[in-house]
Amino acid sequence: MIADSKTNGSARPVVLRTHNLVKDLPLSGEVVHAVRSVNLEIYRGERVAVIGPSGSGKSTLLGLMGGLDAPTSGTVEIDGVDITRLSEARLTEIRNEKIGFVFQFFNLVPTLTALENVMLPLEFARRQQFNPRQRARELLDLLGLKDRLNHRPSQLSGGQQQRVAIARALANNPPLLMADEPTGNLDTESGKMVLMALEKVQAEMGTTVIVVTHDPQIASQMERIFRIVDGQLVNEITEAVTSA
Ligand SMILES: Nc1ncnc2c1ncn2[C@@H]1O[C@H](COP(=O)(O)OP(=O)(O)OP(=O)(O)O)[C@@H](O)[C@H]1O
Ligand SMILES: [Mg+2]
Repeated sequence: MIADSKTNGSARPVVLRTHNLVKDLPLSGEVVHAVRSVNLEIYRGERVAVIGPSGSGKSTLLGLMGGLDAPTSGTVEIDGVDITRLSEARLTEIRNEKIGFVFQFFNLVPTLTALENVMLPLEFARRQQFNPRQRARELLDLLGLKDRLNHRPSQLSGGQQQRVAIARALANNPPLLMADEPTGNLDTESGKMVLMALEKVQAEMGTTVIVVTHDPQIASQMERIFRIVDGQLVNEITEAVTSA
């Protein structure tokens, strides 16, 4: 099933497209069909949610779309490039350049401050397009953490840590942000703050945001919702989106 083109009336460019994407996983002599022939298109600058029951294949699908994992068959195109046919080295390059990842557990470096955590990927970047300290400050400011720059993760709340993780994921200005249950480990209020941060990122930086979530409230804040059941894309729910 291809994402309905009626949501793309202004012919927004496709940033990510999957074609007949399949992932079979071996499990004690059997095969788990984790992702079954998923076809979808994600447009530049939109916010989408991937929802579905536990074990339905959401994380597996996100891993394939982000090039963290290779499909059994099918393709994933990012900006028109089929990432399933690249060498490991080129794939790593594309991933670093094009995709920021955020996970349920924030995975910040505990000995570094918020500022230093965000500076880390900037210092490792092959192409230095930003002043690391300045860029990290700007991102943390955008995410409402201006007065937490020198706090270490243990000195921050869960929601604050997740916003640092989002800032870190965006450090090198990737066009795509992929988040797997970014609020899964947070209370409702902190989850809302993280959601607002994602909306702000999309609005101010034009980043395409893809969020895997169990939380219907988070999903309802996205422009489109892809629902996965048993590895299959069962439908796309389109919110009444009116362009601002
Ligand atoms: N490494 C693995 N080996 C075998 N089967 C796996 C592996 N990882 C996941 N699976 C299976 O693949 C299916 C999809 O798993 P996946 O983690 O993508 O689900 P999910 O929708 O993200 O679930 P949750 O909401 O609980 O995070 C499940 O049936 C799971 O048991
Ligand atoms: Mg999952």
